[in-house]
Amino acid sequence: MIKNNFDIYTKQADIYGKADYWRSDEEFLVNKYFNPQKGRKLLVLGCGGGRTLPYLQEKGFDITAIDIVPKMVEAAQKKVQGLNIKVLEMDATNLKFDNESFDYVFFPFHGLGCIYPNIYRAVSEAERVLKKDGLAIFNLHNRFFLRGIYKKFYKKYAKDSYGILVYGATPLDFFKFKKYFKKVIISYRISMLPWKHANWKDVCYKLIPILDKSMYFICKK
Ligand SMILES: C[S@@+](CC[C@H](N)C(=O)[O-])C[C@H]1O[C@@H](n2cnc3c(N)ncnc32)[C@H](O)[C@@H]1O
Repeated sequence: MIKNNFDIYTKQADIYGKADYWRSDEEFLVNKYFNPQKGRKLLVLGCGGGRTLPYLQEKGFDITAIDIVPKMVEAAQKKVQGLNIKVLEMDATNLKFDNESFDYVFFPFHGLGCIYPNIYRAVSEAERVLKKDGLAIFNLHNRFFLRGIYKKFYKKYAKDSYGILVYGATPLDFFKFKKYFKKVIISYRISMLPWKHANWKDVCYKLIPILDKSMYFICKK
């Protein structure tokens, strides 16, 4: 991880450790694509302060989580104290797990985008540790996001509002993911939310999802 991102995440670790929410797009995707049958092995990459871990465990997965920033790992370990979840310090681009060890891999909340200069180093590692027919879900910023399009359109990486350098994906990333996975589906965040809760901005993104801020790549090995 580049120093700039490492330093910012180290400073933000306490805030991430206190975060306690589970996003409706995460709930939707996990319910739709991961089978929460007891004991299915799930690897959470870039777990940060562990925000997603208690919610995922409630569903019955056998969870291993990693993050590259030691302060984030500490915060996540504190969060999952008493729960049977392993949290390890590790680089998503160099996983210390055997081939075909996990049923599912989840890289939530734009974490994959922090990998510089090539996010596909982590995608390839995720594919390696997945079992045959396993499934990975990656979340990335969308380079065509309406509000940021004017400054990010031409650049693969751009700084977000915290100064973190992040990759912005486009629908063309589909073809890059396809080099690693048999089947790839793109889903935009707002398009997963129910119409009844949509405000006027959500309605715009539901109608023209390619302008949404956040996109998911759902990949089957
Ligand atoms: C935006 S935060 C998301 C944290 C957490 N998943 C959440 O949803 O609250 C991205 C996380 O990815 C981690 N990360 C970035 N690059 C990584 C890498 N190469 N290996 C492991 N973790 C990484 C960062 O340290 C950070 O904790």
